[in-house]
Amino acid sequence: MDIYERLIEDHGKQRGLAGGLAKTEGDSAERRRLFDAFKLEVESHAALEEQVFYAELMSHAEGQEQARHSIIEHDEASTLIEELLELDMASSGWLNKFNKLHHELEHHVEEEEKDVFRLARKLISDKRAREMAEEFDRLKKEAMAA
Ligand SMILES: [Fe+2]
Ligand SMILES: [Fe+2]
Repeated sequence: MDIYERLIEDHGKQRGLAGGLAKTEGDSAERRRLFDAFKLEVESHAALEEQVFYAELMSHAEGQEQARHSIIEHDEASTLIEELLELDMASSGWLNKFNKLHHELEHHVEEEEKDVFRLARKLISDKRAREMAEEFDRLKKEAMAA
């Protein structure tokens, strides 16, 4: 497994949780449970993606602009998550903001899987991409267990 496959695996989890959340209604136990799982998954994924993958991409001059762009989008997503925590889950405001986050995250992961990975494959060796998968996986397991 390389880092691209490993990140895509996480994106699948993220998509599943977001899709499940979009089907929940009101301030329900199910919405709370899924939102907690979604928040943990999205935040830990973004933090470790920056630490392991984007740090490597940044070390190549041609990767810096794309890496910065992605990190800005991570910050935007975490701002929306923090704002969601302040809203009543049963309100239309919560649902509107969640839908915006869902849409933006989908755009973000699609861009990663297409444009960012294509660029990274040119700049990062296959060997390094396999090492990064192991590193990411180890850190992610630690983060989820903590
Ligand atoms: Fe990302
Ligand atoms: Fe990602």
